Formats: sequence, C-alpha cells, structure tokens
Amino acid sequence: MNVLVTGGLGYIGSHTAVALLERNHDVVVVDNLYNADRDVKERIEKITGKSIKFYEGDCVDPEAMERIFAENDIDCVIHFAGYKAVGESVRIPTKYYRNNLDSALTVLETMKNHNCNVFVFSSSATVYRADQKSPLNETMELGASNPYGWTKVMIERFMEDLAVADEDFCGISLRYFNPIGAHESTLLGEKPVGIPNNLMPYICQVADGTLEYLHVFGDDYDTPDGTGVRDYIHVVDLALGHVAALEKLYEQKGMFKYNLGTGRGTSVLELVNAFQEATGVEIPYQIEGRRPGDLATVYADPAKAEQDLGWKATRTIKEACASSWAFQQGLKK
Ligand code: NAD
Ligand code: UFG
Repeated sequence: MNVLVTGGLGYIGSHTAVALLERNHDVVVVDNLYNADRDVKERIEKITGKSIKFYEGDCVDPEAMERIFAENDIDCVIHFAGYKAVGESVRIPTKYYRNNLDSALTVLETMKNHNCNVFVFSSSATVYRADQKSPLNETMELGASNPYGWTKVMIERFMEDLAVADEDFCGISLRYFNPIGAHESTLLGEKPVGIPNNLMPYICQVADGTLEYLHVFGDDYDTPDGTGVRDYIHVVDLALGHVAALEKLYEQKGMFKYNLGTGRGTSVLELVNAFQEATGVEIPYQIEGRRPGDLATVYADPAKAEQDLGWKATRTIKEACASSWAFQQGLKK
C-alpha cells in the first residue's frame, strides 16, 4: 500500500512510518513541523534503509492536500496530525477545535476527491466518559472532559456519519492508551517542547538533571498505592497496531473502533520504580495534590484488537523505560 501518514514526523507517526516501511509499504508523510524536527525524516530512512516522500505542509490547507493526492497514488491515510496538550486545549479551545477538526475534515474531503476511502484515526482513551470503570471496552459510552477530548469524540462521530453516507468508506479509529518508550535504535522518541505534561518525558528530564524532581499528583486515589493508574503501551507496539489494523481492514467497509492498550494498569510509583530498575537512575519525587481533571484508574480491555486484528502489545514497561532513557541520553550528546 501507499500510505499517507499525516503528522508522520511526530512521536507516534514516526514509529508508525518505520513499522509500515518494515512491512514493505510505501510512505508519504505530510507534517507542518509544529511539533517535530525536520531531521526525523532522515532518522526514519536510516533505521529502515528506505526512503519516504516528505511534504512540509498543513493538513488544514486544501490546496496543499490536493497537491499531495494529485502527485501520489495514495491508497489510505493514517491521520496523526493534530494538537494534543490537554491543559492548553482548556485554555485555548479555539486552537484545538480549529486544527484538529479542520485537519481531519480537509484530509477526508481530499481523500473523497481522489477516491481514497481508508482513513485510520488517532483517537484516545480520553473519549470514554469519565465515570466508566476500567477495563474500558469499545462498547462503553463516550464523552470528554476537555476540548482536546471533544475533538476526538467529534471526529469519531463524523467518521460514523461518513460510514453511513458513503458505502465505500472504511474508517478505523484507534483509541490509544498511554504511549511511552522509544525506538531501539535511539533515533526516534518523544521530545516535548518546554516542560513536559506527561509522566514519562517528565521522569526522563528528572533523570538527566534538567528537572529537579518529579511532582507526583496525588497519593490518595482509590488505587493500591494511592497514585494514579494508567495503561502504558510501548510506542513500537502501538505503531504495529496501526499496521495490523490497516492490513486486516483495508478491504472492509464501515466504521471500526479499537482500543490499543496492554490491559494492565501501572501506578505512578510503579512506573518510577520500573524506570529506576531499568536504568539504575534514581528519580527523586514529592507527593503533591491531585492534578485537576485526572482520573484514578484508566486501562484498556484490549481483547477486541487481539481477536479481530491479531494484534497484542508484547513489550514490557521496563523495555519502554530503558528505551525512553536511551533516547533521552542521545538528546544531550
Ligand atoms: P506529536 O505532536 O508528536 O505528533 C503530531 C504531529 O502532527 C507533529 O509532528 C506535528 O508537527 C504535526 N501536526 C500538527 N498539526 C498539523 C497540521 N495541521 N498539519 C500537518 N501536521 C500537523 O503527537 P503524538 O504523540 O505523535 O500524537 C499523534 C496523534 O495521536 C495526535 O492526534 C494525538 O492527539 C494522538 N494521541 C496521542 C497520545 C499521546 O499520549 N501521545 C494519546 C492518545 C492520542
Ligand atoms: N503524573 C504525575 N506527575 C507528572 C505527570 C503525570 O504524577 O508530572 C501522573 C498523572 O496524575 C496520571 C499519570 O501520571 O496519574 C499519567 O499522566 P499523563 O499526563 O502522562 O497521562 P494522562 O493519562 O493524563 O493523559 C495521556 C495524554 C492524553 C490522552 C491520555 C489517554 O496526555 O492526551 O493519556 O490516551 F488522552
């Protein structure tokens, strides 16, 4: 297949581009470099020994998207391009609704103009209504608690409507739980701009001395050690989930939804311990108050993806910690 990967120089997109190339698919990437470095293209090529076609462009720009489809015979799209900072989405909702909704709409419209019907979407565990009890499964009710989450719910809704209106459409929504880790080559990984919001990049910056200590947001949750529990999935497993979904559902029509998670919950302190054991680096931390909007426990029921797609996360938390740290150390060289 010739796959257009939007946001393909970003964290999850770059790992997915590698996974696609390793399965002998062709890859075209469009990214506006809002949250990615240009040299990620060469890194993807170095890992795989294959070349990709890169367009620096914006998915909300219909002319730019039109040009990409006119110049390439695209079979399907994996749509990663979007903003993802939950807190910022609360402060500047317009920015999130504009970019996330508009990029999906523009890509889908351009696809239709070129008879390209297969759309894989980066959704999130955040689409599940906050009062649902983990393990979360795909039949549970949706609802979001912030503008970022609502953009994911809305795009899924739009895909459902398209699947009804257009008998050729194949929409695949992949609901990621908490991606962590990096490529074993240490050439790809997560590189947030500014102070990280997410736990693993924060731990990595404490480990390398950029940040003094980890703020643990709450130890009074109803969880085994009182700290928040999440389903951390290695980004390489997540990338392979995209390839499995595409290869399995490519010929099918309709709307499909899958959790991509491990099915295992890990607390903040368990992740800190796993990191320390995997790397030998001590992570000082202080317990603080809860972060507004956080839930106690969120983990996936991943059975549907295993059953339908033959995909299962296999990498361990320790492997994820070791690879995140190896990538982080590379940044300082
Ligand atoms: P990322 O920021 O590393 O990657 C997104 C990429 O899209 C970046 O390279 C950015 O430059 C690009 N981009 C943004 N807007 C664009 C536009 N209008 N046109 C072209 N390029 C654009 O983020 P990520 O962690 O790789 O996440 C990828 C997708 O997965 C996002 O849609 C995100 O919401 C979703 N997701 C991420 C997580 C997570 O924890 N990382 C969890 C659930 C869902
Ligand atoms: N945490 C800390 N200290 C930190 C950062 C996080 O204690 O500095 C805790 C949080 O309170 C939470 C856990 O670590 O209990 C995980 O927090 P993250 O911010 O890493 O991840 P979230 O589960 O809050 O959210 C992430 C993404 C969302 C996405 C969601 C599900 O940020 O975009 O996973 O996919 F929707």
